[in-house]
Amino acid sequence: MENIKIVTTAMQVPERVVTNDELTGLMDTSDEWIYPRTGIHQRHVVTTENTSDLATSVAKKLLEQSGWDAADLDFIIVGTMSPDALSPHTAAIVQGNIEAPNAFAFDLNAACSGFVYGMSVASSFLSSGRYQKGMFIGAEVLSKLVDWKDRTVSVLFGDGAGGVLLEKTDEPVGLIAEELQSFGDRGQAILTGRFANKNAFAGEISPLDPYFHQDGRSVYGFATREVPKVMQKALEKAGTEADDVDFYLTHQANKRIVESMAKNFGQPMDKFPTNMEEYGNTSAGSTAILLDELRRSGQLKPGMKVAFVGFGGGLAIGVQIWQL
Ligand code: ACO
Repeated sequence: MENIKIVTTAMQVPERVVTNDELTGLMDTSDEWIYPRTGIHQRHVVTTENTSDLATSVAKKLLEQSGWDAADLDFIIVGTMSPDALSPHTAAIVQGNIEAPNAFAFDLNAACSGFVYGMSVASSFLSSGRYQKGMFIGAEVLSKLVDWKDRTVSVLFGDGAGGVLLEKTDEPVGLIAEELQSFGDRGQAILTGRFANKNAFAGEISPLDPYFHQDGRSVYGFATREVPKVMQKALEKAGTEADDVDFYLTHQANKRIVESMAKNFGQPMDKFPTNMEEYGNTSAGSTAILLDELRRSGQLKPGMKVAFVGFGGGLAIGVQIWQL
């Protein structure tokens, strides 16, 4: 086990709530269509904030709750597929905003698996012994990547951020095992943020298409078929039975996918908490937001085993088992 402590957690979502009913004014859809297929009732959508604003709020809350000084931080990683810009990267903006002079900062994009991949990189930094204290934040403003006239994707997503402070420790806690897998040959199933390239030498190589497109059925099949296999491998690496894990915190894409995972492992749904009802799919933010809600509600206790499960764009899957 890599001895790393999750010191505290925090989240930030925009104030503005958009319900399924409100979407009926924008497109031909209904709560009756959306909710049974996805588990989503509403989502939070930015009005004035960008990704770095949500991430900065999370960073400030993390420091305030922990009593850490910003100068204590060795690194800040932001997982996002919807940065403010490619440069400056979101983590650098956060580092400047919170004035963390000793922290290096960079973004990581593993789409909806961003939380697990970010936790993997952050915990590797800490267990290497080179760094002592780090911050990982998953932050997304997916509402800027969505064509609000396209009912097949716009109803699924929301904006939000969640994060953790991590510290190297001698306590018997930390990352027990992980399994990360990529399926690049299936990447066309989820597309977003494509730039135009009209360079003077080659003509147009790729057209501009910022918007999110997905083959919903194949993503659904991928998630329900492949994710349990990766979860099983992570459990085996951890030498743990599914029954011994107290909570499975999965990416919040679709409630039916989460239900299928719980059924696959013979586990009750109360070990697979969901919050897509309120936030929709917030990609790299989703698992961190769920983790923070669980911590604040007092459901997470020291000594518990928790699995983090990410899946989505890439296509990619990541599963970690942690001892709290
Ligand atoms: N409201 C009303 N009707 C709709 C809507 C909507 N919002 N969206 C689609 N429809 C219509 C379609 O046009 C289609 O109509 P047609 O039969 O007349 O052509 C019909 O409903 C059925 O559409 P499907 O796409 O076949 O619906 P499906 O039952 O597959 O559900 C859904 C779609 C909810 C997207 C499902 O496929 C799914 O959840 N897939 C997984 C998606 C996912 O998890 N993505 C992860 C995102 S990647 C990441 O997390 C970054």
